[in-house]
Amino acid sequence: MKKIGVLASGRGTNLQSIIDSVENKEIENAEVSVVISDNKDALALKRAKKHEIPAIFIDPTKFRTKEEFDEEIVRVLKEYNCDLVLLAGYMRILSPKVVNAFKWKIMNIHPALLPSFPGVNAQKQALEYGVKVSGCTVHFVDEGVDTGPIILQKAVTVEVNDTPNVLADRILKEENRLYPLAVKLFLEGRLEIEGRKVKIRW
Ligand code: GRF
Repeated sequence: MKKIGVLASGRGTNLQSIIDSVENKEIENAEVSVVISDNKDALALKRAKKHEIPAIFIDPTKFRTKEEFDEEIVRVLKEYNCDLVLLAGYMRILSPKVVNAFKWKIMNIHPALLPSFPGVNAQKQALEYGVKVSGCTVHFVDEGVDTGPIILQKAVTVEVNDTPNVLADRILKEENRLYPLAVKLFLEGRLEIEGRKVKIRW
């Protein structure tokens, strides 16, 4: 049984899509073992509890430095023997300590076609730039911000009257499909990283 740890700061629809895919066996031989949040009010924690998954709030204000906070995250992920760590709307940048403790075992989902529009408000950035197509990207996490090797991408059309929220909703629907697929491919050992490239054995 492979163990998935999830870091989430907010509403947790991507977390939910992973939980649902595990429960309906689209992702086999796996469980979401722990959900960690830096926000005690995160809906993601409530979603985890509803599925009897340990839901742990780690209070950033209780640590002197970001490194100490991140050490606690690593400790909890290791305590739950996580084989894969998913960032699902986690609003902090991981320090190299976390990235190296789970080297090429951390994934993130980003609401744009990377390397375009990294960082926050990706959908707004895309609209302001005037692109006609945006989308979402699942990638491995390295020490940069949204820079790691790309696993899967899905394009989404930008419509003339889109607001950031309307575009975000259209992209989110695709995110919720794409992330479970990336997780499944990883857990089945079908992903191989060669430099910047991720080879997929379909
Ligand atoms: C998603 O748009 C994801 O791409 C970004 O943060 C948002 C999280 O949404 N990293 P949710 O909390 O999974 O609903």
